[in-house]
Order: sequence, then structure tokens, then C-alpha cells
Amino acid sequence: MPSNADILVLGTGVVGRAFIDIVRGRLSSRLRIAGVANSRGLALGREREPFDVDAAQLSELFALPRDRVRGPIDDSVLDRIAARNRGVLVDATADENVGELYERALARGIHVITANKKPLAGLYAQRERLVDPEGRGGRAAFRYEATVGASLPIIETLKNFVRTGDRVRSIDCALSGTLGFVCNAMTEGTPLSRAIAIARERGYTEPDPRDDLGGIDIARKAVILAREIGSRLELADVAVEPFVPRDLLANATSESLGADLAKLDAAFADKVARLRERSEKLVYLARIQVDIGGVIHASAGPVAIPLSHPAAQLQGSSALVAFTTLRHALEPLIVRGSGAGGPVTASALLADIFAAIGTASVPPRDA
Ligand SMILES: NC(=O)c1ccc[n+]([C@@H]2O[C@H](COP(=O)([O-])OP(=O)(O)OC[C@H]3O[C@@H](n4cnc5c(N)ncnc54)[C@H](OP(=O)(O)O)[C@@H]3O)[C@@H](O)[C@H]2O)c1
Repeated sequence: MPSNADILVLGTGVVGRAFIDIVRGRLSSRLRIAGVANSRGLALGREREPFDVDAAQLSELFALPRDRVRGPIDDSVLDRIAARNRGVLVDATADENVGELYERALARGIHVITANKKPLAGLYAQRERLVDPEGRGGRAAFRYEATVGASLPIIETLKNFVRTGDRVRSIDCALSGTLGFVCNAMTEGTPLSRAIAIARERGYTEPDPRDDLGGIDIARKAVILAREIGSRLELADVAVEPFVPRDLLANATSESLGADLAKLDAAFADKVARLRERSEKLVYLARIQVDIGGVIHASAGPVAIPLSHPAAQLQGSSALVAFTTLRHALEPLIVRGSGAGGPVTASALLADIFAAIGTASVPPRDA
């Protein structure tokens, strides 16, 4: 039976594996994993039926030695995906140099669906080339709901404000799954360094947790959202205050990070206890504001908020985005829920695939 889409997956980490598991399990009658790559290797399905990458190929790919480096995805691989029924490239990496690969895929009519913020929060001109369907021939979709808040409907909500002529005034975001989890865990008495280690074990952190702790990951999300409402903001324009001192992050290696953070445990515990006495809580927020002249500003940093604030009530790694607009002026429109983790991010990628290929709903194999 022809599949609804033939997918080349980049990345076999937390998100990539969750995505592959869902497709090969409940959705295998409709979606096909036609190729999988990580930074070490590439596995392609056969040229003839069955086209899927099989379990043995996947095990081999996962087991490749850490020091191996894959060559670039060349045009012949993309041509093979483009020749299939509906070709889709799914990016579940944090590689910043994938923009050129996206452009080659889109030019061949391959839909590009990404969880990777970097190509969208990189140089504005590159982002425009990707999102502007007319500029690139318009045959294939480029979708990126998973980049901000995993499966929470954040990008689509913003697009709808723009499409329907609403005017965004401000966007307040508690969007770091990692820092949300860490602040909640510290409020419950877990030391900073332990809370970060748990967040890493559970797959909430960025591939490099320093991206979370330095605020750069949330600044990228702020750039993606600000650009959605018309800003030409670059990442360097976001006023970022890191969660832990910049010096510590600059000098830490991934091996020394845990021990370096442990030196801050007592100071953070003290800060959290003092805030608790004042009925306040530490959170890490990003804010996008449109000033009276229409100029869009973005900032991110740790703030103390009253316990009555909606963001203070978030549990675990939950995320919250509050949109204040012309039409939602008195009470912000709030999107809230699980904003990180493999399965929810994979869900967002899948929903984008179905939107791209125009299949509204796909019954599971065992339905
Ligand atoms: N985790 C979440 O909750 C979440 C939520 C929303 C969005 N995201 C985004 O999703 C992306 C993946 O996150 P993750 O947590 O799954 O990261 P991860 O566990 O570190 O996995 C990253 C994967 O990407 C692979 N990779 C790196 N460069 C590559 C390249 N050029 N081509 C092919 N594969 C490459 C790595 O290969 P090796 O295995 O060879 O190292 C690894 O398999 C990131 O951009 C992240 O920001 C994550």
C-alpha cells in the first residue's frame, strides 16, 4: 500500500527516537521511515518494497561509535526521497548548519518539518528564504510548531492573530522546560545541580544544557515568536540575563558543569527560601513587547513573581505563553501544558506532517 508520506529523519536522540517509535508503531500503515541519519551515519530504506528502514538498520545506526562523523546528506539522497509519494524531511537535531539542506529539500518539493530552532532563529535573511513559499517556488511546506513549546499550539495561534488582523501587544512566556522544571524542583527543596541533572536525565534539556542555563535557548524562541509578528530582530538583539553567571558557563566543560553548578546550590537555595517567605517564586520568563511606535522588543531573564501569577502555578516542566492582543486586551489568551520531552515534541512533528501533506486525520493501525 502506498504510504501517505516517506520520511527522512535527521536525529536519533530524545525527539528523533520518540518520533521513529511512534511512526513505526501506531502509524506504520500510513507513514514510512524511508531514511534516518544521526551525526554518525545514515540508513536508507530499500529502493524496492518494503521501502522502510528496518529494525536491524536502526540498531546498527544507533550503535555507531561516538567518534564517527557522517558525510553530508547529498543530493542523491534527497532525489530518492523526492521521487517517493510525498517526501518529508524531519529535523530532530540541534545542528545550526541545516538551512542549506532545507533549501535543497524544499526546492525538490520535499516538505520540511523541524523541531530545530537554530535555522529559524539564525540570520533573518535565511529564515525568510525558508518561510516564504513564493520566494522558493512554493511547492513544499516548511513547518516548525515543534520549535516552541513542543506540541503546544503557539506558532499556529500567532499565525492566526496575524491572518485574522489582530494586533499582538505582548507575549509573556515561561517556555524553558528545563528552567521551569529546575525552578519548581528548587521550590520543593531540590538543590540546583541535582535539579539540572534530573532535567537532563528526563530529556528536557537542550543537547548542550548550557544553552538552557545561559538563556540562549529561550532567546531563540523569543526570536522565532517576534519574527512571526513581523520583527526583523536578530538573536543578538534579545536582552538576555542568564539563569546562572555567564562566567561559570563560559569556563565549564560538559564534564565539569555538574560540579561547577554544585557551588551555586547554597546561594540558590537561600534565594528560593527568601522568595518563599515573601509568597514569591523564581521563574525564567521571556517577554516580547510591541511599543507604541510598533517596534518589537524581546528580553529574557530570571524574575520573582507572586504565587498568584499563572506562571507560578506551573508544575514540572510545563510551559505557559500569555498573548495580549488588541482583541484579547482584558484577559490574555493563555496556552499552557507540557512543553518539552520526546513524545510531545514528536507529536508536534507528526501534526505538522499531516498538515503539510493535507491529511487531517490518520487512523492508527489498530483502529
Ligand atoms: N527534547 C525536547 O523536549 C525538545 C522540545 C522541543 C524541541 N526540541 C528540539 O529538538 C531537537 C532535538 O532535541 P533532542 O532533545 O532530541 O536532542 P538530542 O537528544 O541531543 O539528539 C540530537 C540528535 O541529533 C543528531 N545530529 C546532530 N547533528 C546532526 C546532523 N547534522 N545530521 C543528523 N543528525 C544530527 C545527533 O546525532 P548523534 O546521535 O550521532 O549524536 C542526535 O541523534 C533540538 O533542536 C531541540 O531544541 C527538543
